[in-house]
Amino acid sequence: MYKLHSTCRACGAKSLLPVIDFGFQPLANDFQAAADARAGAAPLKVLYCPACTLAQLSVVVDPAVLYSNYPYVTSPSQTMLDHFASLLRDLEEERGGTLGKVLEIGSNDGALLKFLESNAESVTGVDPAANLVELAEAKGIQTHRTNWCSAVADLLDCTYDTIIARHVFAHCDDWWDFIKALHLVSHANTVVAIEVPYAGDLLDKNQFDTIYHEHLSYVNLRAVNSLLLETPFYLAKVIRYPIHGGAMLLILRWRTAGAVPVPSDSIDSERWRNLNGRAREMMQSLRSMVKVLGGSKSYRVCGYGASAKSTIWLNGCGFTHQDLAFVHDVTPQKQGKLCPGTDIPIIGDRASLETCTHAVLFAWNFAAEIIAKEEPLRRQGLKFIVPVPELKIIE
Ligand code: TYD
Repeated sequence: MYKLHSTCRACGAKSLLPVIDFGFQPLANDFQAAADARAGAAPLKVLYCPACTLAQLSVVVDPAVLYSNYPYVTSPSQTMLDHFASLLRDLEEERGGTLGKVLEIGSNDGALLKFLESNAESVTGVDPAANLVELAEAKGIQTHRTNWCSAVADLLDCTYDTIIARHVFAHCDDWWDFIKALHLVSHANTVVAIEVPYAGDLLDKNQFDTIYHEHLSYVNLRAVNSLLLETPFYLAKVIRYPIHGGAMLLILRWRTAGAVPVPSDSIDSERWRNLNGRAREMMQSLRSMVKVLGGSKSYRVCGYGASAKSTIWLNGCGFTHQDLAFVHDVTPQKQGKLCPGTDIPIIGDRASLETCTHAVLFAWNFAAEIIAKEEPLRRQGLKFIVPVPELKIIE
């Protein structure tokens, strides 16, 4: 199901240092019904490259296992719509006008392309998940079902003015081929916009629960500049966004004479080692809190948001449905399934949520929106336990 990966994906260095080790963990999005087989577990360990400061997983799980049927659907939340609006504004500014022909890599259910459609000459998606391609096509978004690789260029047989890849770059094993494919479908004025979580935010805000098998790399600018050195692209601009706990949009352009890349940052290995220790302390704190609440007949605790992040918490804390009665989630693809590695069911009905006194907010990246939306339940007494960046109860 997985292979070891011991050379740096960005600069090719061979001597990588182990900095985080969470042992064997289930695949974070392996939501299955009780009667169905689960994919199993794989090592969850982070290696650090002293040469270019990239952090990456020690293994690569077979993409066919991870992505052929993918339950992650771009959240139809206000937070995400606001983000799409920021993206559109920034991309138009970068293009100096309309978006022209747009290609999205990892286009999921077509939500972003649908949003951009009226501001583009055409929109085309590429995504490997059959279930998501079906959803996109139902919205009228033309989508090629495939992984992003240089062979895809034959399928597309044209160049694009704007190429967007949201939260797929860190999922990709072969960055050289990813860049080669971008080159094949771009022209000298193409704006390539790659959105990735920023490793500096992950470290500063204790977001260890975003470390899971789909996220092969934890990206910073020095690593990106190292990677691009030998390619036709350079890092022309970086735009920061608050989405998903802290992301950056890497604007890549074809390298021209005199092009000056965005200056590199740097992240030392000690920060990663410290996070390893902090993750254990944070999981211990949540475990103790939930056990104390569960020990009292007056309380009933559930989870809120069956995010991939929730899998890291639930398995790290060793929770069962005795600890968390269920995890509430609005995503139809997840409802009726179990949280990976556990016997905790995912349910979407409001009545169950009303029976709880506490909900652990595993979708903490949507905290402001969810806490505001659930104001009526909070008035009835529901308290949110927010585990990141630090454990706190919202009274
Ligand atoms: P998300 O943070 O988008 O992703 P990841 O899986 O990468 O950690 O997951 C958030 C989950 O929370 C997703 O399954 C949808 C769910 N959710 C709700 O149930 N209600 C809501 O109001 C919102 C915003 C999300």
